[in-house]
Amino acid sequence: MERKIVTTKDQSATLFVPGLDETYHSIHGALQESQHVFIEAGLQQFNYLSQIHILEIGFGTGLNAWLSALEAQKQDFKLHYTGLEKYPVQPEEWSALNYTQALNLPQSAADLFEALHESAWENEQAISPHFKLTKRQADFRTAPLTPNHYHLIYFDAFAPSAQAYLWTREVFERMFACLQEDGLLVTYCVKGEVRRNMQAAGFEVEKIPGPPGKREMARARKPITKL
Ligand SMILES: C[S@@+](CC[C@H](N)C(=O)[O-])C[C@H]1O[C@@H](n2cnc3c(N)ncnc32)[C@H](O)[C@@H]1O
Repeated sequence: MERKIVTTKDQSATLFVPGLDETYHSIHGALQESQHVFIEAGLQQFNYLSQIHILEIGFGTGLNAWLSALEAQKQDFKLHYTGLEKYPVQPEEWSALNYTQALNLPQSAADLFEALHESAWENEQAISPHFKLTKRQADFRTAPLTPNHYHLIYFDAFAPSAQAYLWTREVFERMFACLQEDGLLVTYCVKGEVRRNMQAAGFEVEKIPGPPGKREMARARKPITKL
């Protein structure tokens, strides 16, 4: 897949795929989008837990994983993070991304970004005392997923306008099955058809304020089974 590095409005970098006319993050700000959609609307909802299991759909640049690992360090909880990715980002690409500088963070943050990219695929790797990472090169439509396991899913596929087949009821049924009860799925997309597919899969779906440049985002909850 041909990819180019581009700069978004908050000065953080992202990848652009000419073949799909899609960027990996919002052009209004890659860092701002990840922080808002995945960290604030997702991860920070579980502040009361000492151990959190996250599944990311589309590991890509590792930006969401890195911000989550920084949050785990800051808030002192243990993070088990699984990232599924069909087309891994290459070393010459991830090494050119400027997230540590854009956030003005110390070298230790750059070391963490490098470590998560250099870690082996397919098995859980301890990246830091707070962060265990499993990267799997797999298609999320078919990859085996442990049922009722994750607290939180970062659903970060390319937009439905480019790849509608990644946002179907069947896909959301798979997501629903691997979430724990009361678990959350967060995504930047609020398209009506996508929300209806989530609801058909069993989720309770809400529209909440989106990151800069986007009015809304979606948060879906797996309801607790009533006895
Ligand atoms: C919008 S990008 C976001 C990536 C990542 N979350 C990030 O912050 O860089 C979507 C990602 O999904 C991956 N992807 C596309 N189709 C996939 C599939 N069927 N299974 C797994 N990953 C897929 C792409 O390669 C890309 O890395």
